Amino acid sequence: MLLSLLKTAKMKTLLSVVFVVMCIKAVFSADPNEHNKVVCFWNSTAYERQGPAKFQLEDVKSALSLCTHLVYGYAHINSDFEIVPGSPSLDTGSGYSYYRLATQLKRSFPDLKIYLSIGGNSDPYDEEHKYLVLTETSESRTKFINSVNRLLNDYDFDGIDLAWQFPPVRPKKQRSAFGSFWHGLKNKLGYGKFKDEKEQEHRDGFTILVRDLKAQLRPRFKALTLTVLPHVNSTVYYDARLLAPNIEAIHLFAFDQKTPERNPKEADFTAPIYASYGRVAEDNIDVATSYGDEGDNIDAAARYWLEHGTPGSKIVVGIPTYARTWKLTEDSQISGVPPIVSDGPGASGPNTNEPGLLSYAEMCSKLTEHAAGRLRRVGDPSKKYGSYAYQSYNGETGTEGLWAGYEDPDTAGNKAAFVKSKGLGGVAIVDLSLDDFRGICTGEKYPIIRGAKYKL
Ligand SMILES: *[C@@H]1O[C@H](CO)[C@@H](O)[C@H](O)[C@H]1NC(C)=O
Ligand SMILES: *[C@@H]1O[C@H](CO)[C@@H](O)[C@H](O)[C@H]1NC(C)=O
Repeated sequence: MLLSLLKTAKMKTLLSVVFVVMCIKAVFSADPNEHNKVVCFWNSTAYERQGPAKFQLEDVKSALSLCTHLVYGYAHINSDFEIVPGSPSLDTGSGYSYYRLATQLKRSFPDLKIYLSIGGNSDPYDEEHKYLVLTETSESRTKFINSVNRLLNDYDFDGIDLAWQFPPVRPKKQRSAFGSFWHGLKNKLGYGKFKDEKEQEHRDGFTILVRDLKAQLRPRFKALTLTVLPHVNSTVYYDARLLAPNIEAIHLFAFDQKTPERNPKEADFTAPIYASYGRVAEDNIDVATSYGDEGDNIDAAARYWLEHGTPGSKIVVGIPTYARTWKLTEDSQISGVPPIVSDGPGASGPNTNEPGLLSYAEMCSKLTEHAAGRLRRVGDPSKKYGSYAYQSYNGETGTEGLWAGYEDPDTAGNKAAFVKSKGLGGVAIVDLSLDDFRGICTGEKYPIIRGAKYKL
């Protein structure tokens, strides 16, 4: 009797010791960044820009005390379904070998996780639709997974991000002859008039790809994350429930919802948190949305993933670091209020040199210019839609106007505050090279990252 009592007591002590050990383990293995991830995307090709927009390894370094994760973009896949460097000479060439230099950053930033991203709309679209065909058979999936394994043997990335190039939802017809314009974009945005007849098969194949890839990565303690590119219909291509257990995070690129390329005749907010209140339904008819009737906005995207079983801590909200610009003409309303009639992309920025796009550094210079051509800025006291700035068409001189939807430290902060209030995982900065990495706006480098980080 006594003996058995003693035994139970001993047993109890043993059990409680085991329990305490388990608790301690749980505490220590918990992700310290469960709700405040700052995932910094790095477009390595920005190295090729000229002048003050040239973006190099040294510039990345000055962001890293602000980032929890660094995502190197972008690798491509070849016609044999293998992962290959997107810019071979820069990524792995003997001159630079940025893959190696990037992963070596962990020596100076031991807590930083460094992933390699694949796709990201940087891989040229081909007639073969390799991102779809790859998902179709177990042979092609295995080829891909083996090539990722080989790459991870050569370079010490902490994980792989699949920014898979699924076909974007086509913008619906706009007021003018938009069809031909879309046709012209075929090579740039991919897929053209292509209609995916095997959506279901591609979605299931992708789910298996993610499961099998993770099975290879797990024992090596490598992470797997997904990036949902703008205009990809998640209900079609992402089986959220089956994906969630196999991924560390999903980066929602819920921006570029309107772009001067997709919507040349109508300038509008590019990355709203919520659908615009009180817009008559008619206004939205010509806008294809990837999250159903409620429209393309961050809230709708986050809700889709949450409602389909993704833990909030795995949902990371993308914040662009650039402005999208449109040309205003004599047909544009003078109020500046979006949606506003426009005529295609605004002029290129002096350093980034791409029509319809301005880096935050370029945008901020335009806003603070003392010249007569200064833009009028309109902030966002509602904290829901984002900022814009504009200059109307000048009837006297016939000079075209400009409308810019842009992100600034305040709107980035609003997005981070949204993330916090919904219990999501953090923010993704897209990307480092278009933030003010030299600190020309206010003297502080990376104002957009800072604006977001301090609201998480
Ligand atoms: C990266 O930067 C290069 C150089 O400006 C640009 O051509 C390319 O479109 C950018 N890629 C992405 C995915 O933003
Ligand atoms: C997205 O996919 C769902 C499910 O197939 C569909 O009901 C919806 O219309 C699609 N959205 C767009 C804009 O095509």
